[in-house]
Amino acid sequence: MVALNIMLKVAIVNMKGGVGKTMTAIHLAAGLARHGARVLLIDADPQGNIGHALGVRIGRSIRELMLGESPMSDVIVRGVRERLDIVPSTPAAFGLDMQLAAQPSRETILARRLQGLSGYDALVIDCSPAMSLLTYNALLVASDVIVPVGMDGMAILGARQTLAGIREISTLWPDRRLDVMAILPTSVNVAATKATRAAFEAFDEHADLGSRLYRRGIRQCIDLMYAVTQGLTIWEYAPRSRAAEDYDAFVDFVRGAGDAPSERTADANKIEKRQTVV
Ligand SMILES: Nc1ncnc2c1ncn2[C@@H]1O[C@H](COP(=O)(O)OP(=O)(O)OP(=O)(O)O)[C@@H](O)[C@H]1O
Ligand SMILES: [Mg+2]
Repeated sequence: MVALNIMLKVAIVNMKGGVGKTMTAIHLAAGLARHGARVLLIDADPQGNIGHALGVRIGRSIRELMLGESPMSDVIVRGVRERLDIVPSTPAAFGLDMQLAAQPSRETILARRLQGLSGYDALVIDCSPAMSLLTYNALLVASDVIVPVGMDGMAILGARQTLAGIREISTLWPDRRLDVMAILPTSVNVAATKATRAAFEAFDEHADLGSRLYRRGIRQCIDLMYAVTQGLTIWEYAPRSRAAEDYDAFVDFVRGAGDAPSERTADANKIEKRQTVV
């Protein structure tokens, strides 16, 4: 597989929709940039939410990059925030699965396009809620995944399907190393409702899921929605909100995890040491 000289390469993935993937991708990328990292955030979802959520006008996108119509340097939108660049997406990318159906090695196009890219410390890729060609491409670039989960009755199903998809990658590409850095509860009910408690218990019944659960999670916070509709991050819109505090803590967790995986054992979130699942 193509070596990419970036310290942290993380895909935000869950086959289930509406679980907070895009919120997490944006705030992880923006949060790392706030801490001094040079970050490239790639929108690998044809819904194209990232550009809108960060108030960016979209011209060329991941579609042109994947089709070979534009080089990497032309699709990167630079300086979206200090140290934060993005590769946006648009609904035109919905056609990529069909358009690239006959292309050999189509699952590694993104990895090859990123080859030789320099000047970044972290790469964050937002995925669509499907095992589409773009999702395969993202998982063949990433070395870690974060799986956001809404803490409802279906959360565990989405997480299991997603881990199954990741295992499929290891069957098809046995030399790939892909770690689950965290399963991240989002929209955690502040009142710790019965449903939220039941969801946590369900995760704990499965060692492979429970051990990767970032227990603190991200609490429900309506400000996140308002922030995004104004093209702002939560730190810009409501820096004292619950979501600002929780995403801050999660960014710290990822920063620590990236530098010294063993420190996670001592972390209050009780994520055990880095485990290779595939
Ligand atoms: N912690 C939270 N508190 C309140 N609302 C949230 C929280 N996290 C996400 N949301 C809201 O839930 C909705 C879905 O979030 P988001 O778009 O990040 O999910 P997604 O997994 O990327 O969805 P899709 O699968 O369609 O790409 C959005 O309206 C978002 O504002
Ligand atoms: Mg999304």
